[in-house]
Amino acid sequence: MKILLAGGAGYIGSHTALSLLNSGHEVVVVDNYDNSSPESIKRVEQLTGRSVTLYEDDVKDKVRMLKIMQKEQPDCVIHFAGLKAVGESVQQPVRYYRNNIDTTLTLLECMAETGCKEIVFSSSATVYGAENSSPCHEGMPRGICTNPYGWTKSMMEQILQDASVADKELSVVLLRYFNPIGAHESGRIGEDPQGIPNNLMPYVSQVAVGKREKLTIFGDDYDTPDGTCLRDYIHVMDLAEGHVKAVEFCAHHHGTEIINLGTGQPYSVLDIVNTFQQVNDVKVAYEIGPRRAGDLPAVYSDVHKAERVLGWRAKRTLADMCRDSWNWQKNNPNGYKK
Ligand code: NAD
Ligand code: WQD
Repeated sequence: MKILLAGGAGYIGSHTALSLLNSGHEVVVVDNYDNSSPESIKRVEQLTGRSVTLYEDDVKDKVRMLKIMQKEQPDCVIHFAGLKAVGESVQQPVRYYRNNIDTTLTLLECMAETGCKEIVFSSSATVYGAENSSPCHEGMPRGICTNPYGWTKSMMEQILQDASVADKELSVVLLRYFNPIGAHESGRIGEDPQGIPNNLMPYVSQVAVGKREKLTIFGDDYDTPDGTCLRDYIHVMDLAEGHVKAVEFCAHHHGTEIINLGTGQPYSVLDIVNTFQQVNDVKVAYEIGPRRAGDLPAVYSDVHKAERVLGWRAKRTLADMCRDSWNWQKNNPNGYKK
């Protein structure tokens, strides 16, 4: 199959491109490098020995997207293109709504005009909100989001669902990712956050490599076994392989299917820090700080539907995730920059 990856040069997109190529699919990437660089795709090509058709374009630009879709005629689109920093979305809500919603509408319009009927969407566990308790399963109604980023995901899910009700030939898979971490085991591609990382694992890695002084753990007084928050961390290569299954499923399906991609196994912030130190034999200095606004004590997935519908389950362990994150960080202390 030929798959168009909107936002495919980013963290999850580049790992998915690699898995798709290794599974024999053709890959077209459209990215404006708002939060990435073409270097990730260059490395994917080196790792796979396959080539990727790469367009530097804004997915919101309908004129350009239509030309690309007409020329490439992809069988399926995976929509990764989005802004994803929760705190920034509170400061710049209009930019987040404009980018995330517009990319989705443009892709749907271009698909309708070129006859492409399959779309896999990068959604997030954040849409479960605080109302649903873990393990979160796909039958639960979406909750109240605590930030504009979360609302964009919730709204985009609704838009895609509505589109599939109106067009009975449309096949939509909404993948709700939990907490992706890790990197390809080669250490050649990985997560390359700009500026101070928002997420736990890149922060931990940057402390270990000496770029940041210490990690602040946001609260140790939660009602959890060690007092720190529980999350469902998933290796990005497991996530990438989940996308290959989702794309293949999408080809034989109509309507909307919502699927969690997680491991179902919660770990605490201290589990991450301790495992990272142990597996990699490095020190991660940390202090306990106040809770971060909006954090929930425990968020993890029910994984049964992914197993049943996609025949997929995460295989890699927390030790694998910590080892591969460190392998990427120590070999690329400045990310994709030289
Ligand atoms: P990322 O920032 O590394 O990748 C997103 C890519 O989209 C980047 O390469 C960026 O340049 C590109 N992009 C953004 N707006 C664009 C536009 N208008 N036109 C063209 N390209 C554009 O992020 P990621 O971690 O790879 O996440 C991919 C998707 O998964 C995002 O939609 C994100 O919201 C979602 N998601 C991520 C996580 C996570 O923790 N990483 C969790 C749940 C969901
Ligand atoms: C994980 C845990 C923090 C940083 C976010 C988004 C979610 C999804 C994934 C996109 C929490 C703690 C973190 C630090 C810490 N993204 N922490 N010190 O908040 O679970 O989810 O990314 O869809 O929508 O909200 O991930 O990595 O920020 O935090 O103690 O410096 O680590 O409190 O318990 P989160 P995270």
